[in-house]
Amino acid sequence: MRLAVLVSGTGTILDAMADAGLPVSLVVADRPCRAIELAAGHGIPTSVVERDSFGDDFDRTAYTEKLVAGLDAVDIDLIAMAGFGTILEQPIYERFAGRILNTHPSLLPAFPGWHAVEEALAHGVQVTGCTVHYAELEVDSGPILAQETVPVLPDDDVASLHERIKAVERRLYIETIRSLLDAPPTREVCK
Ligand code: GRF
Repeated sequence: MRLAVLVSGTGTILDAMADAGLPVSLVVADRPCRAIELAAGHGIPTSVVERDSFGDDFDRTAYTEKLVAGLDAVDIDLIAMAGFGTILEQPIYERFAGRILNTHPSLLPAFPGWHAVEEALAHGVQVTGCTVHYAELEVDSGPILAQETVPVLPDDDVASLHERIKAVERRLYIETIRSLLDAPPTREVCK
């Protein structure tokens, strides 16, 4: 089984995947980032498919098609988003239906979107967590595969709470991916 990981940021989840021996065949980023450096350090092939814009003129579908072409070139079985910062369009969900995963730092469906940790703190929740799910076109939607709770502590700020959540993500995402690689998902995903 060949796993591709999509990244944009610090890459601590990717690093944990590589340390755990997951068969990461390719790491793709949408911008230069530390995650790409970590991947290279693990000897994993990397590709930076840079966006030509972060503005209103960004052609999301064309970008997605470019990304899919790169993934097709290496015959990927499963795609794991791990802190990937670009919302992708329909072409990837058609080409890799039921084979795209995401991890999100909240207990979905609570707090979807980019500011999950900030929003959990702002709402004063006492418990949050993380969710591993199949990714679909709608951001942070899709059938849930695994969730785990994380307590919010009185002195938490965004950084401390996110780090406590990420410590769990680094384990839960790997366990979930491992179980899928042992029993590969079919293209039909039950909802
Ligand atoms: C994780 O919390 C993930 O859920 C979110 O971005 C973070 C990635 O962390 N989408 P890192 O770049 O792997 O350290």
